[in-house]
Amino acid sequence: MCGIVGYAGKTKAIPKIMTGLKSLEYRGYDSSGIAYVKDKKVKTIKKSGPINNLDEHLSYDEDTTIGISHTRWATHGRADDINSHPHHQGKITLVHNGIIENYDVLKRKLIEEGYHFISETDTEVAAAVIDSLYKESNNMVETLSKASEALKGSYALAILNSDNLDTIYALRKDSPLIVGLGNGENILASDIPAIAHVTTKYVVLDNYDIVVLNKDKVTFYNKAKEEITKNPRIFSLADETISKNGFDHFMLKEINEESDVVKKLLSLHTENNHIKDIYDITKYQRIDIVACGSASFAGQIGKYYIEKFKNIPVSVHFASEYRYQKNFFNKDTLVILISQSGETADTLAALKIAKENGSDTLAIVNRHDSSIAREADHVLYIEAGIEIAVATTKAYLAQVILLLFLAIKGIREEKKIIEDLKLLPNLITKYINEFDYTKIAKMFVNKDHVFYLGRGIDFFLSMEGSLKLKEISYIHSEAFQAGELKHGSISLIDEDFGVIAVVTDKNISDKTISNLKEVSARGAKIVAITNIEDDNFSDAKIMVDDISDVINPLTVIVPMQMLAYTVANLKKCDIDKPRNLAKSVTVE
Ligand code: G6P
Repeated sequence: MCGIVGYAGKTKAIPKIMTGLKSLEYRGYDSSGIAYVKDKKVKTIKKSGPINNLDEHLSYDEDTTIGISHTRWATHGRADDINSHPHHQGKITLVHNGIIENYDVLKRKLIEEGYHFISETDTEVAAAVIDSLYKESNNMVETLSKASEALKGSYALAILNSDNLDTIYALRKDSPLIVGLGNGENILASDIPAIAHVTTKYVVLDNYDIVVLNKDKVTFYNKAKEEITKNPRIFSLADETISKNGFDHFMLKEINEESDVVKKLLSLHTENNHIKDIYDITKYQRIDIVACGSASFAGQIGKYYIEKFKNIPVSVHFASEYRYQKNFFNKDTLVILISQSGETADTLAALKIAKENGSDTLAIVNRHDSSIAREADHVLYIEAGIEIAVATTKAYLAQVILLLFLAIKGIREEKKIIEDLKLLPNLITKYINEFDYTKIAKMFVNKDHVFYLGRGIDFFLSMEGSLKLKEISYIHSEAFQAGELKHGSISLIDEDFGVIAVVTDKNISDKTISNLKEVSARGAKIVAITNIEDDNFSDAKIMVDDISDVINPLTVIVPMQMLAYTVANLKKCDIDKPRNLAKSVTVE
């Protein structure tokens, strides 16, 4: 979702800014813009569509050393040039990530004050709020402290003020922002890859931190306008470098990394086929798993494992619902938040509610220093490495494996399960390379609708398989409990309907197969992802191995991802950046 880069240095700023901005493309956006200082004036250029549309209007040789820039994922107002950031009011030009919830009330007040708005955005209102407050004190630290009172919602803001054009100001609440500390140059951005070409030394901002940044110096203030010291950290360039490594797409590269991710998790968390120290969940009587998208589907697999091995009731919730429903928080309830980015706004808000209401919180996240990682009581990092493709693959698998580790720690079968899990890396490599996905994918490229069917754990896996397929191939796909189909939805089935069945759980496969027979009797062709060799229930099949009840669910993950990838590739979709989607969903 929206990306911010602000830069001040000695050398030409536009190449530095645009390198940073392009590295944030993966977050998802639909327009981009830049404001830079030239001849003591702020020059703003903004364009809808891909960053190249902006690039075409820029001279990389421009004589400017300071600027702010933005990729926008439209919330308030269409994705057009006018609504794109930066926005300008009076002396203030700014870019914004987040949502100003009270923008409507503020806007009406500001119109009475004489402000005039040209865009439909909440961001232009934030610019006017800051300009109006600045008129009172002519002091930006004072202004931003007051702005953090006036603005409700979430915001990361990078700001230019025409009274002081060698400085970038910034303010953050509930939207990510980091500051990179360079040598004779400083940079601020939404995420680490956007500062990697300038420095590896960075500071993570806390809520309400105010930043005053120029080429030589960065000063931090708290909401009370006191200067504060922030501890810089260093990131490893190798971990944050974005490259496709020769693969056609980041998604394919990331699927290929899954084998190493499993090995890494095994080496970090196991010793002599036992789980090393890991957060003890046995002291809780209930567990709520809260997440969005694929992370919540990973949570469903975690529920299966935790209930099976720890006998603790687990409920899984979408974070966007959890926040507004009745919950039963107490000290006996653990709330597990799962998030690749660690910045998903709804998941972060759910975490805060759980903490405020006295429940312990455990975050399972990928991005170090992310908001969710920093705010949770306890953190388990999935250590999957940076994930760029919007459709998560390796992070989802890693989340499932960490949940498995939590579930099996200390149980009788622990050793056997870990021994079996060690087979998975090689199986993943085999599933990627030895199967002809194109042949199966061709059965789906022309479908408008697909059902992903399964029962029990196979249904929970289907939820992720179905999401993967729809998000990158734009084929309408639903996961359905195979046994529930006949209560209404089977009326949709005809010979044009696509059906993918996940059948790995032998305890219930006979029942699933009966349901699949009902589907083929109505003309649909069935592709099965299964470990059952002699089947008479599918028209084509992706065969996975039969290892054990515990490992079998993990075997179908990569084939489901490869199938979705291949369908989308045949359809020539923008696999890494599907339309309308964002990698890091920092608005609610
Ligand atoms: C977006 C991504 C999904 C992801 C979800 C939750 O929708 O496209 O792949 O599962 O957000 O993101 P998180 O970073 O919290 O795991």
